[in-house]
Amino acid sequence: MSTGTLDRIGVVGLGAMGSGIAQLAVEAGYEVVGREVTTDLADAAVARIGHFLSRKVEKGALDQAARDAAVSRLTVTTDVGRLEQCELVIEAIVEELEPKRELFAALEDVVAPTAVLATNTSALSVTEIAAATRAPGRVVGMHFFNPAPLMPLVEVVRAELTADEAVETAVAVAERLGKVVVRCHDTPGFVVNRVLIPLLNDCVRVLDEARVTPDALDTAMRNGAGWPMGPCTLIDLVGIDVHVHASEALYEKLREPRMAPPPRLVAMRNAGLLGRKRGRGFYRYDG
Ligand code: CAA
Repeated sequence: MSTGTLDRIGVVGLGAMGSGIAQLAVEAGYEVVGREVTTDLADAAVARIGHFLSRKVEKGALDQAARDAAVSRLTVTTDVGRLEQCELVIEAIVEELEPKRELFAALEDVVAPTAVLATNTSALSVTEIAAATRAPGRVVGMHFFNPAPLMPLVEVVRAELTADEAVETAVAVAERLGKVVVRCHDTPGFVVNRVLIPLLNDCVRVLDEARVTPDALDTAMRNGAGWPMGPCTLIDLVGIDVHVHASEALYEKLREPRMAPPPRLVAMRNAGLLGRKRGRGFYRYDG
């Protein structure tokens, strides 16, 4: 495994997180192969990345030639086999253990023995994902934050059997993407979500306890605690389903009542109020 000479990165799953990671990687000069399950989803990711890069051009943060060069470094596919040449593959698929384990086992048969396999999981165990492979030393966590192109942090997560080279590759790539890196071990929620998930759950409980509206709670936390966006806006951005799932995963591991998703959020998830991506969560969104 090499840290400095890597040129080709695979990103599996091009939803909000994966497309953000792919965008960062093409901007940083990597050739990127993005994999989605359907061509429509892959095309939507290309459009999304093109849109955000064009916005940077419009705002003078990127020149047109650099934007076009970045877009040309992105290839999308529905075929996992096309990741063959990738020296690092970052997985950002659905937050469920079994699909991730199946993907890692399949990736191992596709990429070179020296390639590093990273997961962007936010609350699952990297060790349990790595255990689905024959060579768990090459598996590492690279946890980006939403929205990936804007949030500076990447947690580089060392699982039980992760090799030093895999950790160093993940750190080197994250730094080339312009990120601030914190290295940590594979504990439930790592660093940020261990703190943030129960805190956001407390915020939702306060809605009913203090009988305030989402807007009033957000106003309070922005102006009284200096949060850049209020907790309800943040949960809408992350996705109610993603947050509930992460809460359940932490609760299963740590059994602290604050980790359990508040019933109000579970009801929202069940009703399909999934936040910004579906046009409605705590708030309504146009378009
Ligand atoms: N991808 C790429 N580019 C994006 C983007 C995205 N998803 N979203 C916005 N942008 C671009 C847009 O082009 C935007 O400009 P326009 O609206 O003019 O097109 C530009 O970035 C700037 O956006 P904003 O003006 O909205 O930026 P801001 O200064 O208001 O900051 C923020 C936005 C960084 C998101 C800030 O509000 C913030 O820090 N919020 C907190 C976010 C947070 O806590 N995230 C962590 C979530 S928890 C998590 O991710 C863990 C997990 O595992 C689930």
